[in-house]
Amino acid sequence: MYNPSDDTFLIANSIVNCHGNYALEIGVGSGYLTEILCNNYKFVFGTDIDFTSVKHSKTFLKNFNNKFLICCDVCEPVKFKFDVIISNPPYLPSAGDGDIKDYTIYGGHTGTETTLRILHLIKSNLTDEGRIIFLKSSLSDDEKINRFVDGNSLKKSVLARKKGFYENLEVCEITKR
Ligand SMILES: C[S@@+](CC[C@H](N)C(=O)[O-])C[C@H]1O[C@@H](n2cnc3c(N)ncnc32)[C@H](O)[C@@H]1O
Repeated sequence: MYNPSDDTFLIANSIVNCHGNYALEIGVGSGYLTEILCNNYKFVFGTDIDFTSVKHSKTFLKNFNNKFLICCDVCEPVKFKFDVIISNPPYLPSAGDGDIKDYTIYGGHTGTETTLRILHLIKSNLTDEGRIIFLKSSLSDDEKINRFVDGNSLKKSVLARKKGFYENLEVCEITKR
């Protein structure tokens, strides 16, 4: 399971003042960000591909009855439109054959494959006024992300930045207009 780290805290600062009705988090991990959502949104849906993370988060968030957590790939079974979708996705480029061996940190061949799958939810799972807030690292290739944004006439802005020794982190927001 992924323990809260610098990237977690950076995105936490960007969502702490967001409020609304329906929130979705992809990749809940320890449940650190999910807790913020549970305090600020009426209903929170969280997923993780890792069963241990879901089990841990369910225990960690046991006092919140506005959450629903499931173990699945991205949010495959969910047919609902949310006001906000957040994710601190795995974003490191996978070594060698591109096969993902550790889902907590590796996000596919260029590091952006899992992120792009999450961004595609903008079409199926986000309200027209909604936004996707996600974390991006300078270690992943963001050309595909920019092409997705431009190709779908979306708007991307940067909410927060942090310079690190090995990588620079950005919290990005994408909206439909
Ligand atoms: C970098 S960790 C972030 C965890 C936590 N949200 C945080 O900020 O500390 C990425 C999380 O995404 C999960 N994950 C990776 N691929 C996924 C997928 N395809 N569907 C759902 N969750 C996934 C991992 O298991 C991991 O818990």
